[in-house]
Amino acid sequence: MSALSHTDPEAFAIVEREQRRQSEDIVLIASENHCSAAVLEATGSVLTDKYAEGYPHKRYYGGCEYVDEAEELALARVKELFGAEHANVQPHAGAMANMAAYAAVLTPGDRVLAMNLNHGGHLTHGGGFNFSGKLYDFAWYGVDEASHRIDYDALQQQALEFRPKLLVAGASAYPRFFDFERLRAIADSVEACFMFDMAHVAGLIAGGVHPSPLPYADIVTSTTHKTLRGPRGGLILSRAELAKSINSAVFPYMQGGPFMHQILAKAVAFGEALQPSFRAYSQQIVANAATLAANLQERGYTLLSGGTDNHLMVMDFREKDITGREAQEALESIGLVANKNLVPFDTRSPTQTSGLRLGTPASTTRGMREAEMRQISDWICDRLSAPTDEPLQGHLRSEVTALTARFPLHNAEQVAVA
Ligand SMILES: Cc1ncc(COP(=O)(O)O)c(C=O)c1O
Repeated sequence: MSALSHTDPEAFAIVEREQRRQSEDIVLIASENHCSAAVLEATGSVLTDKYAEGYPHKRYYGGCEYVDEAEELALARVKELFGAEHANVQPHAGAMANMAAYAAVLTPGDRVLAMNLNHGGHLTHGGGFNFSGKLYDFAWYGVDEASHRIDYDALQQQALEFRPKLLVAGASAYPRFFDFERLRAIADSVEACFMFDMAHVAGLIAGGVHPSPLPYADIVTSTTHKTLRGPRGGLILSRAELAKSINSAVFPYMQGGPFMHQILAKAVAFGEALQPSFRAYSQQIVANAATLAANLQERGYTLLSGGTDNHLMVMDFREKDITGREAQEALESIGLVANKNLVPFDTRSPTQTSGLRLGTPASTTRGMREAEMRQISDWICDRLSAPTDEPLQGHLRSEVTALTARFPLHNAEQVAVA
C-alpha cells in the first residue's frame, strides 16, 4: 500500500482517477506528454525539501552539496543536448523562463516584436493581460493570409519601422519550421537581440528532426514538459556573454528558492533525450503527425498551412458548420482529448474559435505509430461529421478504450504507487 493511499485516501483517489483518465483517453493536446517513471520518481524525491537559493557552490543555505550535484548534472546535460554555451535550469515554468529572458535584456517600456497570439504566438509574447504586454511595448507579426506561413518580408518591413530592441520567435500553434537565418538577419538589420522560444519544439530539436535555433539566437527559452518529455518546468539557454544577466534575472530578480526536485527530474529527462532512442522517438512524433495530417486532409478537412513540419497541426473549421469548442467537446466524449484554438483571421470568439489543435507527442510516447494515427484520424472525422449521433459516440468511445488498452502508459506503474 502506498503512503498516500494509507494517509490520505481522498487525495490518492484523485491520483487514481487522473491516472485512469490518462490511460483510457488518447492525449492529442500538442503541449502534453507522458514523462517516464524515472522522471516522476525524481519529481517525488526528497530533493523537494531542500532550500538552495543561489547557484551551485554559491548558495545562501548550508547542506547544498547534493543538490549542487543535481543542478550541475542538469546543466551539463542540457548544454550537451543543445550545444549551448550557457544554461539556466531554474525557471519554474516556460512563462518564468520568458519573464527572466526579457528582464535580462530589456527595461520596462522597451520595444519587442513577437508573433501574433492569434496566429500561433504565446500569451507571454506580449498578451495584453500578461506581464509581458503590461511591462513592455509589444508589436506583432503574423502569417500570410493565404499560406498561413510567417510572412518574413512583412516582418522585415515591420522591424525596420518599429525598431524593436528584441525580436521574439517561437509559437504554441505554428505547424511549420522557422527560418532562423532570416530571423537572425532581420534582428541584425535593426540591431535587435533575437530570442527563440522553443517550448513546443525543444524535443524535436534535441532529437534532430527540427532545425536548431542555437547557432542563430542570442537567447533560447523552453519548457521541459512538452516534446522534451521531462517534468513541468522551464529553462534558458544563451550565449556566454549573457550568462550573468540571465542568471541574475532568474534569481534574485524573479524567483526565490529553485525547485531542486524538478531540477533533478530535468537532469533525468535530458539524460533520456541524449539517448539514441529519443532520436527514434522524435522521428516517430513527426511521422505520426504527417500521417494524421494527411488522413484528415484526405477526409476533407482543411489544415492551416496545408499540413505540418513538426508535431502539431491546426484543423481550420472556418468553412465548416462546427466550432473549435464543439469539436473539442465531441472528441472528448469519445476519449480523444485536444484543444480548441483560434486560427489566424478567425471570425469566431476565443471561447468558440474556428480551430482545433492536435499533436502527436503523447500518443507516440505510448508506442502508437502510423497505423494508429490513421485509425485516430478516421475516428476524429467520423465523430465530427455526426456530433449528435449517440450510438456512434458509444461505439467510438469503446474503440478508443480498446486501442488504449493495447498501448499502456510507460509511467503507469510508477503513478499507481505515488
Ligand atoms: C511557446 C510557449 N512558450 C511558453 C509557454 C509557457 O509555458 P508554461 O505553461 O510552462 O508557463 C508555452 C506553454 O504553453 C508555450 O507554448
